[in-house]
Amino acid sequence: MSIRKSAKKRDSEKMSDAGFRSMNTLFRIIDFLFPYIEKRVRKFGIEEGMTVVDYGCGPGRYTMKFSKLVGETGKVYAVDIHELAIQVVNNKIGKHSLENVEPLLADGYNSGVPDHVADVVCAIDMFFIIKNPTAFLRELKRITKRDGILVIDDGHQPREETKRKILDSGHWTIQTESRDHLKCKPT
Ligand SMILES: C[S@@+](CC[C@H](N)C(=O)[O-])C[C@H]1O[C@@H](n2cnc3c(N)ncnc32)[C@H](O)[C@@H]1O
Repeated sequence: MSIRKSAKKRDSEKMSDAGFRSMNTLFRIIDFLFPYIEKRVRKFGIEEGMTVVDYGCGPGRYTMKFSKLVGETGKVYAVDIHELAIQVVNNKIGKHSLENVEPLLADGYNSGVPDHVADVVCAIDMFFIIKNPTAFLRELKRITKRDGILVIDDGHQPREETKRKILDSGHWTIQTESRDHLKCKPT
């Protein structure tokens, strides 16, 4: 595949600005009507002092909760491929004084997160969008500590598809799974 074609393929993961804004509005309504995120993240295994990566952070709904859980001694990298996500997260950092959060604009599957720093990488409601799961999962492995974990969910794809993509990549093994998410260990 030519470089041009491969770049085009990657770009298709990035939604339009209008699409991002609509998603943000929808999330605000959902979070107002069904405030489930706080309860959900309690099961992710995040503790004070940890380094967490919110991969595909969108408008930072989870980033905010992770920031609180890891506290002053921890760190959260909020990674997204969309500039508007980074802008919204930056606004939230300013508004809520989230000094432990660092937003990073991803370039394709290059997140900019240093090697093997993450205790927990969370890829929530985004894996189903990814066109090249193996390349994506390789990047997640690169940024995860050897004894770190990946928390990943299905989003809009069947569980069997999620599992197949993870196992076919060769980069992760599935440690546990619940209806809500899977926890994976790097190989
Ligand atoms: C449906 S939103 C979910 C946002 C957030 N995780 C949540 O659950 O509130 C998916 C997000 O993944 C981001 N995304 C898609 N492909 C990506 C990639 N290759 N690298 C980083 N972020 C990506 C999108 O820009 C979007 O913000």
